[in-house]
Amino acid sequence: MGRTIFAGGTVVTAEGSFDADVLVEDEKIVAVGTDLSYEVAETIDVSGKLLMPGFIDGHTHMDMPFGGTVTADDWATGTAAALAGGTTTIVDFSLQDVDGSLGDAVDTWHEKARGKALVDYGFHVAITNLAQVKDEISRLPELGVSSIKIFMAYKGTPLYAEDADLFEAMQIAREAGVLVMVHAENGDVVAKLQEQALAAGNTDPVYHALTRPEEAEAEATNRAIQLAEIAGAPLLVVHVSCAAALEPIHRAHELGQTVYAETCPQYFVFSVEDLRKPGFEGAKYVCSPPMREKWNREPLWRGLQLGDLQIFGSDHCAFNFEGQKDLGRNDFTKIPNGCPGAEERAMVLWTHGVLEGRVSENQFVAVLATNQAKVHGLYPRKGMLAPGSDADIVVWDPMLETTATVANRHGNVDYTPYEGMDFHGGPSEVYVRGNLAYKDGDVIAEHGSGRFVERNFTHPAI
Ligand code: URP
Ligand code: ZN
Ligand code: ZN
Repeated sequence: MGRTIFAGGTVVTAEGSFDADVLVEDEKIVAVGTDLSYEVAETIDVSGKLLMPGFIDGHTHMDMPFGGTVTADDWATGTAAALAGGTTTIVDFSLQDVDGSLGDAVDTWHEKARGKALVDYGFHVAITNLAQVKDEISRLPELGVSSIKIFMAYKGTPLYAEDADLFEAMQIAREAGVLVMVHAENGDVVAKLQEQALAAGNTDPVYHALTRPEEAEAEATNRAIQLAEIAGAPLLVVHVSCAAALEPIHRAHELGQTVYAETCPQYFVFSVEDLRKPGFEGAKYVCSPPMREKWNREPLWRGLQLGDLQIFGSDHCAFNFEGQKDLGRNDFTKIPNGCPGAEERAMVLWTHGVLEGRVSENQFVAVLATNQAKVHGLYPRKGMLAPGSDADIVVWDPMLETTATVANRHGNVDYTPYEGMDFHGGPSEVYVRGNLAYKDGDVIAEHGSGRFVERNFTHPAI
């Protein structure tokens, strides 16, 4: 690959925006500036466009067994959706088999991704049986894995962990230099409320939300934060959905504790009312934590503004309506939990965040790319446009107009919860390590062109 220059655009980083050209050579950025005097093989005119570091999505579930089925997007279709949303790196959850090792989980996920991935990728490991793998956590960094996820929810499934296991995992992870991520919902409370709802004959999708109250998320978030403080471990609270859960995170930050927190697009555009849609349509919006009442959105925006929520991940966990979501037609607890969102993530944030004046374009880049790279151990190789970084580049067209509909989605799902939603601004071209991977609606990257990236957690201050 010769030298390529992206000329005439505005570079947008987490720190600021400025007019500059970006010079790329051998998959890397070699210079960012004006009047760059290099011989180049190709000039790409990006005037009128914004150049941003490729987005990183630290929260996806591709080809993952869950809720009695397997997610609808595999590594080919899921990474196509991600790419169409400007994402050039994902970090996906490999799942420990109850009797398996963490190494096996990582190997299995390598197999799933091989020959299919269109974007670069790393893995977290979701722990299902701590007793089996206590000694192995410290060896995860040798596998290029720097994070584990512990579930305080999903009681009655192998994912659910008691406090003793969560706490011990935190202690082990601290020593190992591994980041603990938590799914914070009180599993006992949710299980009891579900049992009571079903006993009362309340089987509709909306009871998914009504049996997972905000307080159950807030309580578990606070508990995880306190346990992390005792263990002396950094913590990442994923998919924060509501104001009540944000409060203990804000308090922890005031006290100087290292707590990272992620929120997701679905909590800014959907609400509990969507789960009330007739004809079982509400099942399309079932994810955990659930969609909340609308008033939670403004506090979540403030959380992004203030930096209490440092990252914006998709939690892309897609299931078809037919054959998957409808497993729960007569019992909401059997609806597989999760929604697609990898493709819409950045466009939701731009349309409702940047264009409505709630976050700056620089905060947009921070929570989609730079902070993601820092929290997930990819920085500075990923997440920034600077010499030495991978040439993962989003050419963002602020004039692009898109209306989401299932026919123009790039994933493999038979519906989109975003059906009919308008987005202003989006990626017109996406480059992965200097290679054009997506252009004007078409995925160009070859299956298998995405590469595994080793990650290394470095306790970043953000
Ligand atoms: O409903 C969700 N979020 N499904 C994916 C699994 C998880 O808890 O992240
Ligand atoms: Zn979760
Ligand atoms: Zn998830």
